[in-house]
Amino acid sequence: MSFRLTSLLSLLWLAVVGASSVGDSGCNLFFCLNITITNNEIMTYEITPVFEPFGWVGLGFGRLMKNTHMVVMWDDESNPGSRIVSQRYGVGHVEPVLEPNPPRIATVVPSTVEFAPSKTNYSTTAFQIPFNKTDPRPGQIIWAYSLRRPDPDSSADLTGHYVAGTVNMRLDKAVSGLEGVVTEDPKDALAPLPRFQKLIWHGILLSVGFLVLLPAGSLVARWGRTFTPRWFKVHRLINFGVALPVIAAGFILGPLAVLDRQAGHFADAHQICGLLLFALYGAQLFLGRYIHARRDAAGRSPHPPSNILHAVLGISTIALAFLQVRSGFAEWSMRTGQPDLSHWCHDLWAAWAFILPVAYVGGLVLLKRQFAQEKQGRSYADSPEGKNYIALAAAAPSPIMFDAEHEAAYSELETRVPLLHRP
Ligand code: HEM
Ligand code: HEM
Ligand SMILES: *[C@@H]1O[C@H](CO)[C@@H](O)[C@H](O)[C@H]1NC(C)=O
Ligand SMILES: *[C@@H]1O[C@H](CO)[C@@H](O)[C@H](O)[C@H]1NC(C)=O
Ligand SMILES: *[C@@H]1O[C@H](CO)[C@@H](O)[C@H](O)[C@H]1NC(C)=O
Repeated sequence: MSFRLTSLLSLLWLAVVGASSVGDSGCNLFFCLNITITNNEIMTYEITPVFEPFGWVGLGFGRLMKNTHMVVMWDDESNPGSRIVSQRYGVGHVEPVLEPNPPRIATVVPSTVEFAPSKTNYSTTAFQIPFNKTDPRPGQIIWAYSLRRPDPDSSADLTGHYVAGTVNMRLDKAVSGLEGVVTEDPKDALAPLPRFQKLIWHGILLSVGFLVLLPAGSLVARWGRTFTPRWFKVHRLINFGVALPVIAAGFILGPLAVLDRQAGHFADAHQICGLLLFALYGAQLFLGRYIHARRDAAGRSPHPPSNILHAVLGISTIALAFLQVRSGFAEWSMRTGQPDLSHWCHDLWAAWAFILPVAYVGGLVLLKRQFAQEKQGRSYADSPEGKNYIALAAAAPSPIMFDAEHEAAYSELETRVPLLHRP
């Protein structure tokens, strides 16, 4: 179950951010190194020794020798053209010990990097290792280079290094994709959502909640209220029953992702505005319940200020959510160092930001009809859905004053709508 969920997440991931390979490369006096992270799952290291003579070269996934897992490579004397790859563990400033059970296993893969023979006499070794998603700086590694080649055996003794240092790569450049060969450790698949996936779900759930569900519920209110008393049930179901879990789940993932990188909460405009928007949504829920509970209080006008506030606040919330989602797009590349979201996300956003206001404003043509119904004081107290209402008019029947002009304007409409029976 959890495994299928991860594949589903990866698929959605691919749809939203595209097949993403990011990386960096560079050379020092001793070797050239390309590092690629594919789909946030696999890291590929491609290392080419250039300094003569080449004994062994090692990379360590840490800052110091002590307590660091390492991959050490040297040419296999007994088998020309092939290279030995040995995983080691650093115990201090002494020869790293052989690590028979490393937490992340390095797998040698064909290399994609080619150097002209004028640049180096040595071949490139490429290996892949599952990406450690909790490592805040995967591009920071230690390295060492020796001029003395060890024996052709992966447990051979290593002579001390000639020179050593650290590499600090940002790993944020988009690079052409590399096929992943290493599959994820099953333990990893069961681990809680990694940070990037939290953020993708944060974006998806909140975009759907604020820009699909809440607008749908509002359109139901705007277009439905003069036609059927059921508009209210649908409005409440969408904006409360469906949207609340979606929005709450998406929202909570935001702070959880921030927690993952141990940063302070509510640190920029997106984060503060997000909190405000969540509060606005909560206020709408309370206001909606309040006006619904008070709908047939005696002497209540069809649109007391609280009802108007609910509509205005609802529209403002959705308008603000459009800006929030767009700022989330920028937040994504800013906070994760990943390439910008796929173009279609921006296009869809822009198209919807145009269509939705048109659909809502279009529904305002029904206001005339709504006011006429309200003036009649239609409350449907005697209909099976008497508990609901068409317009939010007071349930107490008000005197019906119908002048000839309204009669002419609305009689046709009303006879077509069976719910609007005449007294
Ligand atoms: C209406 C929709 C949205 C709301 C209400 C919202 C709300 C929030 C909040 C409250 C935080 C900060 C959490 C904290 O400071 O602890 C946050 C962070 C963030 N959100 Fe959103 N968000 C929305 C849409 C999006 C979208 C569409 C994306 C795009 C993927 C996105 C990406 C992010 C990112 C990258 C962070 C920062 C995470 C970090 O710094 O590690 N958000 N959001
Ligand atoms: C937070 C999400 C919600 C949003 C964004 C929202 C939005 C809206 C909008 C835009 C309207 C006005 C439609 C129009 O006449 O043009 C409206 C009307 C209404 N909503 Fe909501 N609504 C939300 C939640 C709720 C809830 C949870 C309830 C009840 C439990 C509710 C009850 C009502 C009622 C009674 C009206 C009619 C108000 C009137 O007479 O103008 N709403 N809502
Ligand atoms: C590896 O690095 C070289 C330059 O150092 C670069 O031209 C090449 O595109 C890189 N390849 C990958 C797959 O990152
Ligand atoms: C490759 O090996 C030859 C012979 O040992 C040497 O002359 C040449 O400089 C080496 N090339 C490089 C790029 O180091
Ligand atoms: C991943 O990185 C974290 C933080 O640097 C480290 O504590 C952890 O041991 C690493 N996990 C693996 C499997 O390498």
